[in-house]
Formats: sequence, C-alpha cells, structure tokens
Amino acid sequence: MQTFDFDRPAGRQGSGCVKWDDIHYDDLIPLWVADMDFAAAPCIQQALYRRWQHGVYGYEHVPERFYRSVMRWFEEEHGWSIAREAIIPVTGLVPSLNALFRELVSPGDQVIVQTPVYNGFLSSFPNNDIELVANPMVYTDSRYTIDWDDLEQKAALPKTRMLLFCNPHNPGGRIWTREELSRVAAICRRHDLLLISDEIHCEVTPMGIAYTPMGTMDEIKDRLIVFTSPGKGFNLAGLGIANVVVPDGALRQRVHHALDRGMVTEVSIFGVTALQAAYDEGKEWLQAVNEYIGANYRFLCSYIHEHMPRLGVTQLEGTYLAWVNHSAFPYTSAEVEQTLLHQYHVRVSAGTFYSSDGEGFMRINLACPRAQLEEGLKRMIPIFT
Ligand SMILES: Cc1ncc(COP(=O)(O)O)c(C=O)c1O
Repeated sequence: MQTFDFDRPAGRQGSGCVKWDDIHYDDLIPLWVADMDFAAAPCIQQALYRRWQHGVYGYEHVPERFYRSVMRWFEEEHGWSIAREAIIPVTGLVPSLNALFRELVSPGDQVIVQTPVYNGFLSSFPNNDIELVANPMVYTDSRYTIDWDDLEQKAALPKTRMLLFCNPHNPGGRIWTREELSRVAAICRRHDLLLISDEIHCEVTPMGIAYTPMGTMDEIKDRLIVFTSPGKGFNLAGLGIANVVVPDGALRQRVHHALDRGMVTEVSIFGVTALQAAYDEGKEWLQAVNEYIGANYRFLCSYIHEHMPRLGVTQLEGTYLAWVNHSAFPYTSAEVEQTLLHQYHVRVSAGTFYSSDGEGFMRINLACPRAQLEEGLKRMIPIFT
C-alpha cells in the first residue's frame, strides 16, 4: 500500500497558475479555481517523465492503448461499457461544448441547465447566441434536487433543443441517483431533446457515494453525448485531455464533424500519456485523494459549526467543492468574495459566478492541504460572526 503526502504545500505561487497567481498577495490563501493543490499521482509523473525523455514531440495518432484505457476504466470503475468507436478524444470540454452548440443547435434555440451551474456552461450561451433556459434546482435541507415540473414545462417549450446536464453537479455537489437520471432521460425523450451530460467530476466521490453514468441509461442512448475527463479527479487540467463519448453512430458523425471543425480533436501527446497512466495505474492515488478530500469536508463542517454557526454547508456527495450558504448575513456574494480577497487575502468563488441563483453562497475548493483550508476558514471568522 503506497502512501501519499497531501499535507505538503504545493509550492504553486509564482508558477504562473491561475489559482495562485491571478492576483498577488504574499499570504494569499486561494480556495477558488477548480483544480487541486496536489501534485499528480507519481505514476502519472513517471509516465510523463519517460515520454519527455524520448525527446521527440511531433504529431502522433492517439494509440489504441488510449481507447483501451478509457474503456477498461469506465467498465471496471463505473460499470459503463463504452464501445471503442464511441470515444472521441478532445483537448477540452468547454471548447467541445462551444463547438457542439455551433453545430447541433441554432442561434435563437434554447438549451436547459440546472442552475446554479458551472460558469463555463454559462459563457457558452452568449458566445453562440443560444438562449439559456434555467431550471433552478430546489434547495431543501442543505441539498439540491431537480424541480421536475419546471423541467417538464421548460422541455416542452417550442425552441428547446437540448438539456445540458452536470453529473456530479458543480457547484451543487449532487451525484444524481439512478432514479433521477432515468427521469431526466425520460423527459429528454418525451420532448425530443438532445442530452449532453458533463461527467468531468465523476472520479471525485469523497463521501463514498458511487456515481452512476448517464451512459448506463439505455433509454437515452440515441440522443446522448457524455463528457468525461481525468482532468478533475487526477488533477490534469493543464494537460488538455478529455473525451466526448457518443454511443449512437448517426449522432456521433455529427458530433465528430462539429469537434473537427471546432479544432478540438488534435490532442497533445502529454495529455494522452497522462490519461493512460491515470486510468491504468492511478486508482490507489485516486482513492487516497478522495479520502483526504472527504476528511477536509468533514473538517470544514465541524470548523464552521464551531466558529461560524450561522453559515450553512451544502451536503457534499461529489466534487471537491463545498457550497456554503451565507445568506443569514446581509452581504451579497460579490461583497463576500471581494472582502475576503482584498481584506483577508483568502479567495473563494462568489455564488453568483454560477448564475444569479447562486446569490447568498460561496464555493470553497477542498482539494488542498488541510492547513491551507484551516487558515482560509480562520480568516473568514471576522465577517461571519
Ligand atoms: C462541469 C465542468 N465541465 C468542464 C470543466 C472544464 O473542462 P475543460 O478544462 O476540459 O474545458 C469544468 C471545470 O471546472 C467543470 O466544472
């Protein structure tokens, strides 16, 4: 059994990374951007090192091993059998989403999202003149659920073409159950909608709750596009590697065309190498990092309970993102973000970054050494007591 040291500070300040170097304060505690302050698994670092040592970095085909790694990983870890030809390697999911918006829906069409939701979804709408139709989630007992009546109603609108779904949900923290996925699938079928299910956070299951892939819902296969990536779970965002999975052959042709036209299928050799190492050899590290994040979440809950009891913590199922309710205080999300950043040098994400339905919340990234999280929380006490 290998051990991994997640307590060690990552030493990222000055490395040019967005999370630490976007705004400079010597004593900054960044708890915002969704990447981890942990070095990648040793098996990934070693694989990259071996590839780097070769010294020649020209154009390459994606090797068969890559596809086998993806197929084996999803079959063994998540019980989802993916056909080899269904997998389209891409450089990133947000550019893929934009490419698909340009090709599969037309300007003026409507696409539904469950808000509050990942900001990269939100910006894709105005970029492509697509109208966002919000299906705001219902927040009860610190947990989100889907407003089914509202979803059914929005799905029936004449210009609605697609549902853009997020599983696990960022920032809501939900891992949708099989029953919920099945209801979503049925609504898409009933109203003839395409379904994009973004499952980038699927490896981040810190509370031991299993994720169910939308791809295991047979009833939706002919209209389903799934986004997967080792980017979040294995912390490889800077390597630009992900996959778009399309089970249906006819739809896949359209998707492939869109992604080729969008120039997102020329993946980097280092991304390919890292993905293979992650899926082939990274399981132990992933389990360890999930345990550490789970313990960080429990730490955050008890720290807040003890020192800032008027804050509310959303139940976490998936992702490493705590969604904290500060609506008992008379500050907007933007005010909280700005005050924490400029007075206390701790950076969180304002809830409104994830649509206006995120007002009254802040998002805190748990994927960092515990001491960093503790220091960030400590600095929040003056404004939340
Ligand atoms: C739901 C979701 N999709 C996609 C991304 C980004 O994907 P990529 O880096 O492959 O564009 C993120 C990053 O936070 C995310 O939360």
